[in-house]
Amino acid sequence: MNLLENLKWRYATKKFDSSKKVKESDLNKLKEAIQLSASSYGLQLYKVLIIEDEELKKKLKPASWDQPQITDCSHLFVFCNYAKVVDKNIDDYISLKSKIQDIEIENLEGYSSFMKNTINTFSEDMQQVWTAKQTYIAMGNLLTACAELKIDACPMEGFDAEKYNEILDLNAKGLSAAVITTVGYRSSEDATANAPKVRKPIDDLFETI
Ligand SMILES: Cc1cc2nc3c(=O)[nH]c(=O)nc-3n(C[C@H](O)[C@H](O)[C@H](O)COP(=O)(O)O)c2cc1C
Repeated sequence: MNLLENLKWRYATKKFDSSKKVKESDLNKLKEAIQLSASSYGLQLYKVLIIEDEELKKKLKPASWDQPQITDCSHLFVFCNYAKVVDKNIDDYISLKSKIQDIEIENLEGYSSFMKNTINTFSEDMQQVWTAKQTYIAMGNLLTACAELKIDACPMEGFDAEKYNEILDLNAKGLSAAVITTVGYRSSEDATANAPKVRKPIDDLFETI
């Protein structure tokens, strides 16, 4: 299984070679891997910003615990969850589903109100947590797709979401930065690339009942 070999190859890259850029055709594959991510009800209540602008990366670095990956990477992916879920989000999904799967809207009304009724019972804080969770699934797919393409990546929570929201003007768009990933190519000076993986033994991690 090639996937396992690729997952052993990948690691949370600490030092990128800033001279190497991910080519557009690979970026398109990464976008598609994110697009194909599973999400609760299929709603995909997030948006992913891909930042390649060097000035913007410089502005975001101090808001990212000054981690060098932010400026050295080729592209910085910022996964932004919807800050609030409104009925229109569900209606948009239903109309997309109706078009793509050729189903009359009337036949999707039950599903639509089921989703609305469930989501409307969530407090605003819970909605935020719920939409943010979905971004981690997308980020997981990004990390796996990167590994398959032998592109390096570092998943990152070490950043100040409020500062990101401010710098990227996310509040005005109804978005909030949930998690980020730096993507590019490892520097030959990154000693962590060769460190053995630290993982719990399979017997500790799993219990078959
Ligand atoms: C949600 C999440 C947040 C992380 N945040 C950071 C971070 O801010 N900076 C960093 O260098 N690594 C970060 N990491 C990387 C982890 O430390 C790393 O994945 C873990 O130690 C396992 O090592 P490996 O990915 O190299 O196999 C993060 C990983 C995850 C999944």
